Amino acid sequence: MAIPHRLVEVRMSAQHVMVLTGAGVSAESGLPTFRDPLTGLWERFNPQELATPDAFRDDPSLVWGWYEWRRMKALRALPNPAHEAIRSLQEKVRRLTLVTQNVDDLHERAGSSPVHHLHGTLAHPYCSRCGAPYSFPPEIPEEPEEGRRVAPPPCAECAAHVRPGVVWFGESLPEREWDIAERAAQDCDVFLCVGTSSVVYPAASLIEHAAANGAVTIQVNPNSTSWDDRVSHDFRGPAGVVLPALVAGCSLR
Ligand code: OAD
Repeated sequence: MAIPHRLVEVRMSAQHVMVLTGAGVSAESGLPTFRDPLTGLWERFNPQELATPDAFRDDPSLVWGWYEWRRMKALRALPNPAHEAIRSLQEKVRRLTLVTQNVDDLHERAGSSPVHHLHGTLAHPYCSRCGAPYSFPPEIPEEPEEGRRVAPPPCAECAAHVRPGVVWFGESLPEREWDIAERAAQDCDVFLCVGTSSVVYPAASLIEHAAANGAVTIQVNPNSTSWDDRVSHDFRGPAGVVLPALVAGCSLR
């Protein structure tokens, strides 16, 4: 893929690159996105029944089983060339802040660090009553069937249900991660937005902050989003193809 010369110059002079990823960055690892037609999770499942505090209260086993199904899928998936390219970009630019809306750990497994998870992670559940963290047993269980109920484990401290460590609709984002993301969006001179539909707030406001502060904005997505005409550079293609090309040729700091 041909990368415009001006963009190479932008990258070479960048002081601070912010990368915001969404479900699309893990699509080529075999993990479904939320809103892609036919394959998106929210095309097949109702978020009100699975991704809200009320849903967990009403049917904890349905919700826990669904997140266990997703956790098993993520554990069996491998980082793809897009995750690898983002890790490699971190080594090439002066400063990079990586923020993800994803609850998988594929950025970490590709070697990126730190990774700021705005919507929590599947790996760190906690007690729904007292907040005590819960550690999964080391053995990886069989992948539960889609839609199968699995009883959540009891908290070791207070015996209440352990809940998935993700952010549900109606809940606040983790304060520290959000502060880091918001500050980076205001400070960065290049904002790279990968595999997100940019419709879920407040994460979607980060590109607005960056653009308002004069950052060069770059979108990587095979499909159209509401940002197509507003970004400085719009790369229409799968992240696993576009990002390696974008990062190749980037100068060492
Ligand atoms: P979406 O499913 O809304 O958007 C995924 C985007 O990835 C779409 O714009 C696709 O076109 C794009 N895409 C698909 N395949 C791709 C590929 N190979 N390379 C690059 N892009 C690709 O997912 P998010 O924007 O991440 O929140 O969704 C944001 C939040 O909404 C999620 O974190 C989740 C969801 O509800 C919670 O559960 C709280």
